[in-house]
Amino acid sequence: MDTQANNLPEKEEVRIRPFWYSDYWIFPKLITIVTTLDKHGRINAGAYSHIMQHDVMHKTPRILLGFRNTSDTFNNIRQTGEFVINCPSYDTLEDMMETGRFYPEGANELDYTNYTMIPSRKVKPPSIAECPQIIECTVDKIYELDRTQGHVLGKMEAIVMDKGLAALPRAERLPAMNLPVGLGDEKRKYYFYTSTHDVVMHELGDPPDFEVEPVAGEAEEEAAEAEAMEWDAQAQEMLNGVPKALQKMVRGQVEGTLRDRGETAVTGKLFEELAREFGLSEELLDRYRADADTPA
Ligand SMILES: Cc1cc2nc3c(=O)[nH]c(=O)nc-3n(C[C@H](O)[C@H](O)[C@H](O)COP(=O)(O)O)c2cc1C
Repeated sequence: MDTQANNLPEKEEVRIRPFWYSDYWIFPKLITIVTTLDKHGRINAGAYSHIMQHDVMHKTPRILLGFRNTSDTFNNIRQTGEFVINCPSYDTLEDMMETGRFYPEGANELDYTNYTMIPSRKVKPPSIAECPQIIECTVDKIYELDRTQGHVLGKMEAIVMDKGLAALPRAERLPAMNLPVGLGDEKRKYYFYTSTHDVVMHELGDPPDFEVEPVAGEAEEEAAEAEAMEWDAQAQEMLNGVPKALQKMVRGQVEGTLRDRGETAVTGKLFEELAREFGLSEELLDRYRADADTPA
């Protein structure tokens, strides 16, 4: 494709530098303050944005954080196995930035902010009252990546929110929480943010109807495989209970997984075992059903 002739933007390759994720490359991120205790019980707080959900199934909800190896927070987590992720509101950016300063080990950064510490529910480090959403964590795994950095996989012990927020529809919850979205920094000194106050909503529609051109040989193989799988009445009934929009996907996944395990038919028992294995609980199915019932 001739980009110039088609009036498309011209591209250039840029160097991958240290801190690539925060200089050229725009990588909007969740802004958090992680609170911990050191081995002597002293409170510590630090600003952290290298954070991502790791496991979306609610049976084992886990979250991943990235740390500079020598940060007090990382050391405390290694020593005590507990931490709290507090999400500040955009209105308290100044205080959040204070916790990003390089205070000496043993100092409680929160003492230099207007934040209020409150007891957490499931872990010993305190939570921050002014933060509308909070996750209390214990350590699942620690990955020492190299001498400069590491990852912590946290088990979520509790999600705590300002009363009433969880019940709000997203369109109201986003501006009510008004969370800062980190947009990176310049020279590790000037930090950029936007907020969840002004948001737009787009509805995701179904794809248009179309047939994908079969790859030579693959269609026959797939047809042969599809024919080989039979569903007994109980399995079929369970599949009928899955929301219509997801049935094809679930059918494919169940058949694929069972076929790989050497099964030739889908029975109610096998389906149930798989559902449990994948965390497809009644509670989850109820959520899908409720979503499907919600009028547009
Ligand atoms: C908005 C913001 C996000 C930050 N995110 C991270 C991060 O994800 N990982 C990290 O190691 N440091 C991050 N930092 C730097 C730490 O906050 C800084 O090193 C701080 O001194 C750490 O405090 P601590 O040593 O008490 O843990 C961030 C700083 C700011 C201001």
